[in-house]
Amino acid sequence: MSPTPQPQPRQADIDAAAALLAAGKLVAFPTETVYGLGADAENPDAVARIYAAKGRPQDHPVIVHLAPGADLGYWAADIPPQARQLAAAFWPGPLTMILKRAPNIPAAVSGGQDTVGLRCPAHPVAVALLQAFKGGKGGLAAPSANKFGHVSPTTARHVLDEFGADGTVGAILDGGQSQVGIESTIVDLSRLDSHGPVLLRPGHIGADAIAAVIGMAPAAPDAAAPRASGTLASHYAPRTPVALVEAAQLPATIAQLHQAGRKLALLHFSDAPATHAALRLPPSPEGVAHALYAGLRELDASAADLILVEAPPPGALWMGVNDRLRRAAHGSEGIVHGLIKAATRT
Ligand code: TXA
Ligand code: MG
Repeated sequence: MSPTPQPQPRQADIDAAAALLAAGKLVAFPTETVYGLGADAENPDAVARIYAAKGRPQDHPVIVHLAPGADLGYWAADIPPQARQLAAAFWPGPLTMILKRAPNIPAAVSGGQDTVGLRCPAHPVAVALLQAFKGGKGGLAAPSANKFGHVSPTTARHVLDEFGADGTVGAILDGGQSQVGIESTIVDLSRLDSHGPVLLRPGHIGADAIAAVIGMAPAAPDAAAPRASGTLASHYAPRTPVALVEAAQLPATIAQLHQAGRKLALLHFSDAPATHAALRLPPSPEGVAHALYAGLRELDASAADLILVEAPPPGALWMGVNDRLRRAAHGSEGIVHGLIKAATRT
């Protein structure tokens, strides 16, 4: 990850944001993955405000963010040694662990489930905010700071675009563009004895890296795995339909769609014919993750009929990016064909 300049809020801004949170208000803050919409995790009314602001169903759990060195035992119960090993290896960082919820933690953060999702973010502004809030002993419930199902924000501007007009957010802390760019890896350790570790959402920290620390490879989710909204088939989606196209098919697909009079926005790696709007992605999985959501938002604003995305390669390193792209494109499977056919019929 290359360091990029980060506009650094002053300590006075951080303290003011922490005071808003302590008063039950919502504050958007940067993390290294995406921006979060935070509320006091121990205040059910404040947590309810997150659901209302996002338009998110009440039974979807949110991640609780903790300051470095926080007491895991305060938040979770029956903590397996593997959780402490993963925290030591990857926190602060883009890993969320699902553990059994401690009885003192309100069920509201878990959408009523008996588990809790915990993560210690690495972004310096998030860390400063968590240290200022309740003297570093509190937790911030924070989903991504976007309306339910929409693309996650990776800049303060994106958050403003989502919530600026409705006055539900007390403050937005600007920490520059999120370095990782896609949401944290989620591993479920709440059913370790019966199911082993389960990968609920792939991300920057891969299954291999987790296996190397705990000596067990995380499995894919089964039907009984805890519900996770980021794992819904359709999620992370722009308003413009998104279609994934293999590199080899790209020139022919673009030609046919142009012939049908369609306005195309293109997210690509390889050389490609000119389109109404286009963004070229860097060749590495980390580079793509970093640029992906900002790119989708930019192309979404270009008033195209369709966002064509050149499919990244398969393989473990691309799992996080491919997962998000599949969800962004969900429901648009027949769209390329449909747009061509509709034009030839008229
Ligand atoms: O990188 C991230 O994780 C970002 C930043 C802000 O930290 N947050 C994020 O939050 O992506 P959200 O709410 O958009 O996605 C959190 C995911 C959801 O799919 C949610 O269902 C799952 O975590 N989750 C949270 N607590 C859970 C629990 N107790 N059991 C199962 N899934 C849980
Ligand atoms: Mg989200």
